[in-house]
Amino acid sequence: MENIIDYQTKLIHTFTHKWTERAQVRKTYYPYERVELDVEKPDFLTELLPFSQHPLWNKADAFLKKRVNSLGWILYNKKTIHIETEIVMPVCDDIVHGNFAVLEDDHFKQLASQAMIDESYHTLLSVKGCALISEFRCLPKITLPAFQLITQLKKELFAASSWQQTLIRLAAAISSELLVSDYLISLSNSTEIQPFCRALTEAHWRDEMSHAGIFTLLTRKIFPALNPGDQAFLIEVIMRCSTWFNDKESACWLSILNYLEFPDAETMLFECNLPNNNLNKNKLNHLIQSLALTTQGETRHDHSFSI
Ligand SMILES: [Fe+2]
Ligand SMILES: [Fe+2]
Repeated sequence: MENIIDYQTKLIHTFTHKWTERAQVRKTYYPYERVELDVEKPDFLTELLPFSQHPLWNKADAFLKKRVNSLGWILYNKKTIHIETEIVMPVCDDIVHGNFAVLEDDHFKQLASQAMIDESYHTLLSVKGCALISEFRCLPKITLPAFQLITQLKKELFAASSWQQTLIRLAAAISSELLVSDYLISLSNSTEIQPFCRALTEAHWRDEMSHAGIFTLLTRKIFPALNPGDQAFLIEVIMRCSTWFNDKESACWLSILNYLEFPDAETMLFECNLPNNNLNKNKLNHLIQSLALTTQGETRHDHSFSI
């Protein structure tokens, strides 16, 4: 057991000390500087549109599809801003303020403060990403309805006690941090999309690779210190949050498609509103399994971190 604690402590210290080398905000090159936009390239990956396989989408006019694709980029970035500011940063705030007694060590507080800076930078990237593409494509300013991910989280928080709210915030952040990197990688690896959009998501993805490891370590530190009831509650909420994260945000899409007068938008969305089975939940499932082992008195090293 002592070896595992030493190993975790070493990893936490390494993550903290290497931040200046790895954090994208510390790089001299910012993806939104020296931007050259390519009018021909799509701004977003068409395969990530929830209706990209539907016959109504396939037969739609090419110009209309291009407008939908560009607004898909805006929707993705607006959702990213909500995740950063309403899901991940509040947990960093909890850690910095000592709301988890087991994370009182200064290294955890440093790690959380560094993650907050990273997430603020990702927010800036998304704000810039929306502004530049909106201007370039002369996109309409559409007010989107609330994202299901955020609405569900607020509902869960509303009925909870103060300590449960802390655990719910943690569950939402764990879930998002372990699911987001696989979503980002498809955009950051694409040679098909606008190079600016690719570079911007790549910068975000590089940070998130480390965050997945950091949030795994933090969870492994917090979890054994919880009582069995809180442990069960945390696992249950992590699983629930992953379902919200997976939501296709049909209401937001409907307002975009209706604004652009996309034919039979409601039918198309209704027929595409099945759960998204493509989401890679490997990292999250691996963490849940290792937490379940902890409750049975077993522990496991994890050598899959990117530092
Ligand atoms: Fe982020
Ligand atoms: Fe993150």
